[in-house]
Amino acid sequence: MRHDHIISAKQLSRADIDTVLDHAADIAADPGAFADRHSDTLLGLLFFEPSTRTKMSFTTAMKRLGGDIVDMGSVESSSVKKGESLADTVRVVEGYTDALVLRHPMEGSAKMASEFVDVPLVNAGDGAGQHPTQTLLDLYTIRENAGFDDLTIGIMGDLKYGRTVHSLAHALTTVDARQHFISPESLQLPRSVRYDLHEAGAGVREHTELDEILPELDVLYVTRIQAERFPDESEYREVAGQYQIDAETLDAAKDDLTVMHPLPRVDEIAHDVDETTHAQYFQQAHNGVPVRMALLDLMLGGDQ
Ligand code: NCD
Repeated sequence: MRHDHIISAKQLSRADIDTVLDHAADIAADPGAFADRHSDTLLGLLFFEPSTRTKMSFTTAMKRLGGDIVDMGSVESSSVKKGESLADTVRVVEGYTDALVLRHPMEGSAKMASEFVDVPLVNAGDGAGQHPTQTLLDLYTIRENAGFDDLTIGIMGDLKYGRTVHSLAHALTTVDARQHFISPESLQLPRSVRYDLHEAGAGVREHTELDEILPELDVLYVTRIQAERFPDESEYREVAGQYQIDAETLDAAKDDLTVMHPLPRVDEIAHDVDETTHAQYFQQAHNGVPVRMALLDLMLGGDQ
């Protein structure tokens, strides 16, 4: 995987996924053994959209590998404010760093930016497009809790604008998971994602009600309605507050159902779920560190 850009989950084969997840498990078992692995490495962070977990876990991952980060900081304080193009920004920052992590509101931006740089570039979310490293930590969490064999997963919430959904759904085709999509009709999967899933041989089963399918699920992946991506606020208000779960909802679920969420949550998962054995979303966020350490290590040639 050396020097490959990571733009979309579509580029990850089952073998790539296993390689990253196995390496992440080795790192999680003994993180100290990797502490000096990349002591001369600088990772450039270019976040044009808000982030807590993705940015902080990439920072933590790079530092735990012995390296450091160089952060563009907020758009407000950067030359983007002066009208600099994304292509120019990435061309400059690649000269300072050994790899780049980019989050940007425009779908397709990571692919475009990667064409201007020679260092590896990781897409940390391009608008409603893709978020492949979230998918890797999601898969790690699924593998740890439910396993990949005979897996039935429900993905609920904003399937239209949720980039974590678009990435995850594609990656799940490599493990032949049965996927159920639960959302209001207005937030169903976009046609392009549906087409890709179809091409990958996955059947798309859609529901408007969670209770139709909840008892069959091994994993329920809940997502936030992506308010910032709605062109029209009244459209958002119509669906806001729908598709919430609480501890009582989960009475109908399997005892070993795993509930996941990429976070941040707004009101999709009531706090009483946190205390149940189903809740794995905080552990899921913690898994971002070993998984991103593994990915960075492999991208930067640590397996050589
Ligand atoms: C997600 C994102 O940015 O797409 N957050 C994350 O990276 N964990 C999900 C979201 O914002 O709803």
